[in-house]
Amino acid sequence: MKLPIVAYGDPILKKKAVDISSDYPDLSNLIADMFETMYNANGVGLAAPQVGRSIRLFVIDISDKEEPGLESFKKVFINAQVLGEDGTLWDFNEGCLSIPDVREDIKRLDTVRISYYDENWKHYEETYTGIAARVIQHEYDHTEGKLFTDKLSPLRRAMIKSRLDAISRGAIKVNYKMKFPAASRKR
Ligand code: NI
Repeated sequence: MKLPIVAYGDPILKKKAVDISSDYPDLSNLIADMFETMYNANGVGLAAPQVGRSIRLFVIDISDKEEPGLESFKKVFINAQVLGEDGTLWDFNEGCLSIPDVREDIKRLDTVRISYYDENWKHYEETYTGIAARVIQHEYDHTEGKLFTDKLSPLRRAMIKSRLDAISRGAIKVNYKMKFPAASRKR
């Protein structure tokens, strides 16, 4: 089932999400719904707060047959904790399904070490680099209540403020289902 994606401005996107236990109700359905929602919106990652659940869960699919190492990269991250970040800062043009049509160059370190459980509650501690690290860092940030727009300079944020406000009001065209925080309040 496709779920509505929470839009920029909703307080849930600013909240630090909580760990879940293995008896979390209907977890496998939620994970399946998150993948369906993400694919429908042409995304490569989706975090639970973006579908209205303030829990430490995100899904990623950056499978790319042309890219060595990423031929099959579809993963579920539960109760993830970043253990460290390393390497060199690099720019990548990031977008977010909660912030449609806004893309900005964001600097992050290129290596991330992360502890997490998969959908079968198997525990991992792994190191990722490059695109995989980038998508993990972005989705992980959602579970920490952070958005890529938080990393922009004050000037850059001021420049896109009216676009962000329009997203919060629902005054945008988007081809997937969203939940807009200010839309109901203003009318
Ligand atoms: Ni995002």
